[in-house]
Amino acid sequence: MADRPRVLIGCERSGVMRRAFLARGFDAWSCDIEAADDASNRHIRGDLLAHLNDGWDLLCVMHPPCTILCNSGVRWLYIGGRRACGRHEARWADLERARLRSRTFEGLAAACADQWGAVLEMRA
Ligand SMILES: C[S@@+](CC[C@H](N)C(=O)[O-])C[C@H]1O[C@@H](n2cnc3c(N)ncnc32)[C@H](O)[C@@H]1O
Repeated sequence: MADRPRVLIGCERSGVMRRAFLARGFDAWSCDIEAADDASNRHIRGDLLAHLNDGWDLLCVMHPPCTILCNSGVRWLYIGGRRACGRHEARWADLERARLRSRTFEGLAAACADQWGAVLEMRA
């Protein structure tokens, strides 16, 4: 391990956790498919799964995408929010993409456990 432990904060664009780790002496980086809100040069814009083996001592994925975890917006899968008006196909397609990504994150947990022998806890 380097002098300062290298930590990757996955799925973070705000920089909140990155800055908190930096303030505590970590060599902290964030990674998100979106640009960093604070335009930090300690942000990797890209797919987290492509950066797992970049030499980190610690990986934190605090809030992975949660689009498919609740039913509160389910009515918006229908035109005008009314089932009788028919399916809003673009939103069903969004949901399917989110579902596939969610499976990716389950795969991420398994990959970390395999590669690093890490103990992982996943909560929704
Ligand atoms: C619920 S938000 C979490 C936001 C985070 N708590 C923050 O403070 O920025 C989920 C984030 O995961 C990102 N994301 C989704 N799939 C990703 C992937 N494969 N690699 C990296 N980031 C991803 C999204 O762009 C989004 O910013």
